[in-house]
Amino acid sequence: MAALSLYLLLSWVFLLSLFRTRFAEVLCHEDESSDLMEFKRRINTTDGGQCINSKVHSWSLNGSGDCCSWDGVECDEVTGRVIALDLSSSCLLGNMSPNTTLLRLVHLESLNLAFNSFNFSPIPYGFSNLSKLQYLNLSSSDFSGEIPHDISHLSELISLDLSNNWGEPLHLPNMGNFIHNLTGLKKLDLSYVNLSSPLPPILANFSSLTFLGLSYCGLNGEFPVSIFQLPNLEVLHVAGNSNLSGFFPKPHWGSPLKYLYLYSTNFTGEIPTSIGNLSLLNELDTSNCYFSGSLPSSMGNLSHLTMLNLYRNNLQGQIPVSFANLTQLSRLWLSSNNLSGDTLEGVVNLTKLTILDISDNRLSGGLPSSFENLKQLEILNLSVNDLHGDIPSTLWNLKNLKNLLLGSLNLNGIIDANDLFKLKNLTALQLSHNNISFAKTFINDTSSKLVNLLLKSCNLTEFPQFIGYLSELVVLELAHNKIRGTIPRWMWNNSRESLYLVDLSDNLLTNFENNQTNLPLPNLRYLDISSNLLETILPVPPHLVEVYNISNNFLFGEIPTSICEVSSLSMLDLSNNALNGKIPPCLGSIGHLTLLNLARNKFHGMIPHVYPNRCTLKMIDLKENQLSGIVPRSLGNCRMLEYLNLGDNQINDTFSFWLSKLAYLKVIVLQSNNFHGPIEGHLGQLNFTSLHILDLSNNSFNGKLPSKLLQSCHAMKVINGQDELAYMSIFQLTTSPLLSDIGLERTYAMTLMNKGTERKYEKISTILMAIDLSHNKFEGFIPELIGDLKSLHMLNLSHNFLTGSIPPSLANLTMLESLDLSLNNFVGEIPQQLANLTFLEVFNVSHNQLWGPIPRGTQFDTFGSSSFVMNEGLCGSPLPNKCTNGDNASPPPSSFKVDGEEESPFDLDWKIMLAGAGVGFLVGVVLGNLIIDEKSRWFLHFSRRMAKGWNR
Ligand SMILES: *[C@@H]1O[C@H](CO)[C@@H](O)[C@H](O)[C@H]1NC(C)=O
Ligand SMILES: *[C@@H]1O[C@H](CO)[C@@H](O)[C@H](O)[C@H]1NC(C)=O
Ligand SMILES: *[C@@H]1O[C@H](CO)[C@@H](O)[C@H](O)[C@H]1NC(C)=O
Ligand SMILES: *[C@@H]1O[C@H](CO)[C@@H](O)[C@H](O)[C@H]1NC(C)=O
Ligand SMILES: *[C@@H]1O[C@H](CO)[C@@H](O)[C@H](O)[C@H]1NC(C)=O
Repeated sequence: MAALSLYLLLSWVFLLSLFRTRFAEVLCHEDESSDLMEFKRRINTTDGGQCINSKVHSWSLNGSGDCCSWDGVECDEVTGRVIALDLSSSCLLGNMSPNTTLLRLVHLESLNLAFNSFNFSPIPYGFSNLSKLQYLNLSSSDFSGEIPHDISHLSELISLDLSNNWGEPLHLPNMGNFIHNLTGLKKLDLSYVNLSSPLPPILANFSSLTFLGLSYCGLNGEFPVSIFQLPNLEVLHVAGNSNLSGFFPKPHWGSPLKYLYLYSTNFTGEIPTSIGNLSLLNELDTSNCYFSGSLPSSMGNLSHLTMLNLYRNNLQGQIPVSFANLTQLSRLWLSSNNLSGDTLEGVVNLTKLTILDISDNRLSGGLPSSFENLKQLEILNLSVNDLHGDIPSTLWNLKNLKNLLLGSLNLNGIIDANDLFKLKNLTALQLSHNNISFAKTFINDTSSKLVNLLLKSCNLTEFPQFIGYLSELVVLELAHNKIRGTIPRWMWNNSRESLYLVDLSDNLLTNFENNQTNLPLPNLRYLDISSNLLETILPVPPHLVEVYNISNNFLFGEIPTSICEVSSLSMLDLSNNALNGKIPPCLGSIGHLTLLNLARNKFHGMIPHVYPNRCTLKMIDLKENQLSGIVPRSLGNCRMLEYLNLGDNQINDTFSFWLSKLAYLKVIVLQSNNFHGPIEGHLGQLNFTSLHILDLSNNSFNGKLPSKLLQSCHAMKVINGQDELAYMSIFQLTTSPLLSDIGLERTYAMTLMNKGTERKYEKISTILMAIDLSHNKFEGFIPELIGDLKSLHMLNLSHNFLTGSIPPSLANLTMLESLDLSLNNFVGEIPQQLANLTFLEVFNVSHNQLWGPIPRGTQFDTFGSSSFVMNEGLCGSPLPNKCTNGDNASPPPSSFKVDGEEESPFDLDWKIMLAGAGVGFLVGVVLGNLIIDEKSRWFLHFSRRMAKGWNR
């Protein structure tokens, strides 16, 4: 028996070796090796760089010339035909030829060209030649154009990957048609292919699919819920399709899903209990969607879950206690929802967590000391919740922490810097908006990797001593504290080379140590010391600074010309100080300046010229100085200008018609100067297309109302959707990488004077439109076309010499909140149609020669008599004199001539009858005077970014 077995075994081994010899002798076919060589000849490879291993380098006809032995080539052992070609990550660089010889390798079953760069050339037509193809991978290889339809004839295909060809994406006009015959697919990845269509319902028949990747495809419509029933689907990736709506299946999921990515889609509805049945789920990312309701406690059954991201949905309720069973979880984001409750204790069992982000919710209670169980934790973000109490000392035992983000909580306590220094990997510490201080202790260990230190609004009264020991600090945020006195030099002891951003604004700082105003920070890009009590000459910032704000202090003296050597300056705000002298002419030549704010100082002399081709200014605010002369015509070089405020100076000039060529100009304020002369009658074309706010009040302009100018204000003619969150701003992406990541926004602020009370707008909504031409010498009629400026919110024409009647077309300005026509010579009646202006809060026609009944109804019933006094013959409520019919009800408008030219006898009666009754009391109503306030603020999105998933 044993002998027989041995014999059989030996003969088997012999046969096997025989075969092997035979196979080794099968060389590749000459036509195929020359096709491959031709491909190699016509493509380049990147040399050097990261690319060290192009497989085609081994290809050569010298030696054996057997293509079956070349890198990336696999032949059939029997026929010697090339059946697989894997040139992935082969450093190929160059156009793919439309008649590439690769398409002659008709025995190919597998072709992989992923991770190369084919220069955004199209995928060649002719894949249908390769009728045996089962695997085709052209992902991440810089193809562009339309996917050739003949790929859809490859009915043997099991895996098709055309994903990640971004830059100039591939597109596929009819996906349904394309996949129609590819029903054998197990893997389909078209991520980043431009589909711009709904998902074809036929996908639900693809029962072999295990992997479906359609992220960032511009999908729209409804996601077919049947896809969640595909019996083999393990990976579903449809993220980044913001117009793709969908919901989770309630009753059951048929698919054995392991990875489910739906982030940044329009999925809505609740997370159903049935999600707990996805027992194989490893990763679930539905961040940035619209899921609502509460988290089902069945999620605790997802025992394989390692990553769960529900960031930014509308989830509410408590974090279920069952989450304690998600013991494999290593990354958890629940941030930016409406979660509430006091359930942090349940989280603390998840000992594998490296990231825990539950910021921006309404979680309450204190920080549990058992947090120390989370030994692996690298990122802890609890910012913006209703948490309160003390910082538990056990927190400092989390030795792996890199980011500790506890901003905007109600924490209090005294922190010992030695505890901070225990966290050797800590790079970001966010404690803004808490009530903390730092113990004055001897600091023994001073090595720290801290890069970002955010201590805004912490109630600090002095500079924390440990800052001087940090040696890698990049961002130092200390704004809005109560730090008083001197800015010390020891703070920069160790981080002088690394500091990029320093914000000391809104404190009680009075001066610099030893009056040394030059900060020794050679790499600083952003410096904000605004809103302090600094009483010194203007400190010139370090020479790489891009953003410099030292507004709202008590600076005195002149601007040193050396400030112009800070050539990277992009935003310069010196407003609200006591600086004097002339504005140095060199300021007009700083290369990248986008914002120049010198408002509320004591500058005199001329406004400097701005050099052609160099002006990048978007905002110029020089208001409330003593500037004189004319407006330099060179400001017309500032083609990006959006905001120009020269109000409250002594400028003596005619209207700056040349502003009309600045296409982005949104705000022009020339109020309270000595501008003079007519505006209407200008011969050239006027183009104030983008204008939102025009304030020419308190000057000596004369002639007719500038109807040609008003007619060109196209932005005022369109009523835009009420987007409360949009504010007029300069959005600035600076050149330095860090600051551009932060993103700086400067919003315009404004004060409107209404009835002697100021109404401050910290930000100006982009929809606010206003015109103030008051206190000038304009004469003539209000043009009928005023009714085209439909989106106006404020119109002030008071204190002029305007005549004629009030045009009924004013009733078209349906957004109007404030209308002042007082102190003119208007005649006729108040058009009854104005009663339809439902937003009108302020109305004044006093001191004219109007007559007739005051309109009734809606807003008109709320105006006091001061709105109407000192007219020839207005009657009815709120004035004491009644109209003839004995009650205040208006006669139907049709019986009136609003023109004021021909008066009906009826009108005349009114006039005569009321002529003697017009003695009223004068209540001064000052309305209008649009004042653009310099109290603008810097908006630093930084702390918000820190609060929300810094590392995402
Ligand atoms: C390869 O590089 C050369 C030299 O840069 C260039 O002329 C040629 O067009 C490139 N070939 C391809 C296929 O892109
Ligand atoms: C490919 O087509 C070009 C013209 O389009 C032609 O010059 C070239 O010879 C063709 N190459 C092959 C290998 O057929
Ligand atoms: C699918 O294959 C059949 C048979 O080969 C063919 O007639 C039909 O046109 C194909 N459909 C599509 C959409 O390509
Ligand atoms: C998002 O989904 C909601 C509810 O299904 C729908 O009303 C809305 O139109 C969708 N939005 C987009 C952009 O598809
Ligand atoms: C956690 O899992 C265990 C064992 O499967 C189970 O007994 C327990 O009820 C679960 N806990 C919660 C809170 O769901």
